Amino acid sequence: MREGEVTTRIISGKPSSDDISLDTNLRPRRLIDFIGQEKVKGNLEIAMAAAQKRGEALDHILLYGPPGLGKTTLAHIIAVEMGVNIKVSSGPAIERPGDLAAILTNLQKGDAFFVDEIHRLSRVVEEILYPAMEDSAIDIILGKGPGARSLRLNLPRFTLIGATTRYALMSPPLRDRFGAIYRLDFYDESAIKTILRRSASILNLEVEEASLSQIACRARGTPRVANRLLKRVRDYAQVMADGAVTESVAIEALSKLEIDHIGLDEVDHKVLRTIIEKFDCGPVGLDTIAASISEEADTIMDVYEPYLLQLGFLERTPRGRAVTRLACEHLGVAHKKGQTSQASLW
Ligand SMILES: Nc1ncnc2c1ncn2[C@@H]1O[C@H](COP(=O)(O)OP(=O)(O)O)[C@@H](O)[C@H]1O
Ligand SMILES: [Mg+2]
Repeated sequence: MREGEVTTRIISGKPSSDDISLDTNLRPRRLIDFIGQEKVKGNLEIAMAAAQKRGEALDHILLYGPPGLGKTTLAHIIAVEMGVNIKVSSGPAIERPGDLAAILTNLQKGDAFFVDEIHRLSRVVEEILYPAMEDSAIDIILGKGPGARSLRLNLPRFTLIGATTRYALMSPPLRDRFGAIYRLDFYDESAIKTILRRSASILNLEVEEASLSQIACRARGTPRVANRLLKRVRDYAQVMADGAVTESVAIEALSKLEIDHIGLDEVDHKVLRTIIEKFDCGPVGLDTIAASISEEADTIMDVYEPYLLQLGFLERTPRGRAVTRLACEHLGVAHKKGQTSQASLW
């Protein structure tokens, strides 16, 4: 790919415009269809059953984890399972305190209010949320200057569902007001295969079991990436074969996508190689890495780093990121630190 070209990478967990219809078609609607994340599902089931038994709104819930793991899906499922309406917005979309006050005062009793990218709410907007979450009320300031008065408006009890890829960027007072915080993890290969099997059946696609393994190992433990790869393989099978997704068709299709057999693309390789070659395997600061490869530090943090950390290819140290021996083995190069320490032994 040429430098500066703007495309959504196939391995990115972030949704592209292409994904929107795919996401809605393939998105599970009930908890029973939501595959994997057993711990989160188990805790949620108990919390929901208890709230229903008491006839109360569910506690506020925060979902966090890398893009494409099912946060938005889960938020909608919670509303369906609780039998309540869901209002959807996002951190950057709620610009002024008044915008938030307008949404909150329109909620019905028990409603779910989903705020995606909640770490991007501004401070002034966030402050409206505190009493809303804690006391089901908002404080409206009437007038200006010394004559200003504050008026407390009661709201119906509602459930805030926040989603974020950046738990660390959230302010502690906001975090503390959630009754439950669930972290979504990368899926293992067998869960990804189950998701692919389900997607293939919704898409009416004939797939060989072995082709699912080929897709699953490249999907970075991310359902959105898995579904996107399945779609690419389906297109290839339709054009280049008779539509059936056999193992060899899958391998051929996937080999055109410039991702390796564990799902790493050109940028992952560039991140690793840069740290190895320019910074002696690290540690080196993330901003320095980002500048050296002309990528946004945010993209590296959201899309690339979590999976490299999960693989054990990258380590976070107090002085920055370091590449591990395991990563060097994958790339077929020597680990710099390994060489020096070995040399010093002699
Ligand atoms: N546990 C799951 N089981 C089945 N499909 C899933 C699951 N999690 C996510 N997906 C699929 O992946 C897509 C992306 O999930 P989404 O909830 O939008 O992720 P996020 O909000 O975390 O970025 C969904 O449209 C859905 O098709
Ligand atoms: Mg989402």
